[in-house]
Amino acid sequence: MDIQKVGVVGCGLMGSGIAQVAAMAGCQVVVHEVNDALLQKGFGRIHGSVAKLVEKAKLTSEQGESTKARLKGTTSLADLAPCDLIIEVIVENLDAKKKLFAELGKLCKQETIFASNTSSFPIGEMAEASGRPDRFVGLHFFNPVQLMKLVEVIQGAKSAPAVVEAARAFGAKVGKTPILAKDTPGFVVNRLLVPLLHEAVRMAERGDATFRDIDIGMELGCGHPMGPIKLLDYVGLDTTLSILDGWHQRYPKDPLFTPSELLKRMVKEGKLGRKSGKGFYEWEGDKVKG
Ligand code: CAA
Repeated sequence: MDIQKVGVVGCGLMGSGIAQVAAMAGCQVVVHEVNDALLQKGFGRIHGSVAKLVEKAKLTSEQGESTKARLKGTTSLADLAPCDLIIEVIVENLDAKKKLFAELGKLCKQETIFASNTSSFPIGEMAEASGRPDRFVGLHFFNPVQLMKLVEVIQGAKSAPAVVEAARAFGAKVGKTPILAKDTPGFVVNRLLVPLLHEAVRMAERGDATFRDIDIGMELGCGHPMGPIKLLDYVGLDTTLSILDGWHQRYPKDPLFTPSELLKRMVKEGKLGRKSGKGFYEWEGDKVKG
């Protein structure tokens, strides 16, 4: 099962990154968004990233141009029908994802493999909604997709081994190291990372240390490229809260998953981190100000 034609549904931060690395690896990519304005915004992000990679000699200008030429935008799901693999990267809302996969299940050729980039939902329910649970996996990429070297391949209870293998080969084709994980909350990375980020917020909330010192502690003490609070800002406070909320609903008795008041308050105030320009830190594009 060699994957040549890839559909990406959702062209936000993660979707645009996934579409870009697939196109850089030589795949034909069809990117779906709900309207032209969001498509244009996503393509702007891709073109900016390609330009940066060309500027840094990570791509030649010819490779940059051919990458862009392999990407097509659409607002019609029907255009995804002939894809070998479709990766869903829409809003973290289980009902919306199930509805999308039910529709794709009717539209797409029988062989199409479906994958979700969800960071928090079990893939089993989406797999059932698609009507083809044997051809369904999780493919969980990391932010920024263009630079991070990992992809988690999530094997659902009904995923066919050949489909898991095809997903793993696709992950390697786009330059990532694939790891296999079962369909458990947070898979491998988020199950460890989200409690770390959350505990850092709780430490700041209790006044154990300033958020800057917490970050310096983990950057210099453990060699993390970004301390947990900076990484929380980078990933998004809202994204992290929604992951915690989902786990809290499923495991209400586990205090590890009970969202902190400070995190909830900051999200309510619109302090979402990098994406809103302010979280714990102030941001200018991809960088912390000052
Ligand atoms: N495309 C192209 N180039 C990019 C880019 C992109 N999307 N993003 C950054 N770059 C460029 C930068 O502009 C920079 O270029 P210059 O040197 O010209 O300024 C270069 O790449 C390196 O970036 P930085 O200077 O910021 O260098 P860095 O060494 O600090 O690397 C980083 C940045 C890779 C993000 C690093 O800080 C890092 O690894 N941070 C941790 C990220 C992480 O943990 N991600 C996982 C989040 S969890 C997740 O995603 C899962 C989930 O479900 C929530």
